[in-house]
Amino acid sequence: MAVPPPDKSEISNLKSQSGPAGVTLDTIVSLCKRRGFVFQSSEIYGGIGSTWDWGPLGVEFKRNIKDAWWKAMVHDRDDMEGIDAAIIMNPKVWEASGHIAGFHDPMVECKACHHRFREDHLKEKGKCPDCGGEVTPPRQFSLMFKTNVGPVEDTSAIAYLRPETAQGIFVNFDNVLTTSRRKLPFGIAQIGKAFRNEITPGNFVFRSREFEQMEIEFFVRPGTDEDWHRRWVEDRLRWYTDLGIRPESLRKREHGKDELAHYAKACVDLEFEFPMGWSELEGIANRTDFDLKQHTKFSGKTLSFFDEEKKDHVVPFVIEPSAGVDRSALAFLVHAYTEEKVKDEKRVSLKLHPTLAPIQAAILPLLRNRPDVVETARKLYTDLKRRIRARYDDTGSIGRLYRRQDEIGTPFCITVDVQTLTDQKVTVRDRDTMLQDRIGLDSVGSYLETKLGVPKV
Ligand code: GAP
Repeated sequence: MAVPPPDKSEISNLKSQSGPAGVTLDTIVSLCKRRGFVFQSSEIYGGIGSTWDWGPLGVEFKRNIKDAWWKAMVHDRDDMEGIDAAIIMNPKVWEASGHIAGFHDPMVECKACHHRFREDHLKEKGKCPDCGGEVTPPRQFSLMFKTNVGPVEDTSAIAYLRPETAQGIFVNFDNVLTTSRRKLPFGIAQIGKAFRNEITPGNFVFRSREFEQMEIEFFVRPGTDEDWHRRWVEDRLRWYTDLGIRPESLRKREHGKDELAHYAKACVDLEFEFPMGWSELEGIANRTDFDLKQHTKFSGKTLSFFDEEKKDHVVPFVIEPSAGVDRSALAFLVHAYTEEKVKDEKRVSLKLHPTLAPIQAAILPLLRNRPDVVETARKLYTDLKRRIRARYDDTGSIGRLYRRQDEIGTPFCITVDVQTLTDQKVTVRDRDTMLQDRIGLDSVGSYLETKLGVPKV
């Protein structure tokens, strides 16, 4: 017996409600917890303000996002190197970068309920958004987490958890330049943790105190910077749309002069339509030569590029596409979330791009009490997992197993049934169309690789 596919009328009648317009943040939070994408950090102790743990499926999903970024931004390009710098750096780095003096947010406190807020996030000036009370005048609150290095807890041992990964790239500029023998223009990419003691974290993983960034510092000749800035904005937009985000769910927003960071000459945010409204997904800044010049001044080491042909020393300008891993993950989840009606029942699926889906194919035996069916399914799983991200599951009825795989975004489910034992074929079900194909056991691997777009190495 094979799994009966829904008939055409049921499929064409699907009422689909997917993407940003139709999903609340609570729906995403609940799915993430229910299916093991994201848990509250230290949950058994009541949690700790706005930090999150990525669970078994979440860690795979996040890793796929980072791998897709690294492949597109480093491996597929000829003008990029990667590094992985330490989180704790010499505190002078943060003096030079301007973070110690200027990485502050204006904080106000409600005189009645004592809740604290960012002044620039208040809906009504001077008024507490929780109880309507009067708030104090703003004071500057440093977003940097302080720690002590070594066994002495005095001021000489103070260090900081990095609030951006970028500075690890700037201080390694000369190391990378000399060891890779690059010429301008070229970039350095890095993925890693960053920490900010946000006054008002929130909206799930959108704004938390510990998060990951995917950053590029792209070094160019002064004068070519504006052109490169425009190119990077388009390259970065394309990365999101290549991974399935509809262009209409993204928009560009140019920073006004009054909101530019101290190091930037221009900045374009890529915004996504999150459930709470359009918000920053990634910033692409023109950082000029600010950072390299500051580090030259503070360290005494010249950070510049010597052009052999032109015989001139150049302090490069820097274009910085800076994306958040957690924020991207949230955008991909929101965008993929889909509710449909099938046979009058609600069907929830995550229409994730196959590159990002934690599991690419699930192998499900239709009858788990038939050892010969189970054995064939297990053998297929063992073969497939060498080629794609496959998972075997026989822990429920087929309907239940389909629902679970739909909800976690698995693009293909393969059922092994009694008929498989005679015709050597399995049923492959497509998550998005729900259409089913009967495919020979020996060709499932190549069938899936083609459908999933797995590159041949
Ligand atoms: N090096 C430049 C820089 O850090 P940013 O706009 O402050 O620029 C870049 O941060 C990206 O990092 C943001 O677009 C966002 O995706 C992510 N990000 C920043 N703060 C975050 C937070 N508190 N929680 C989660 N992601 C954050």
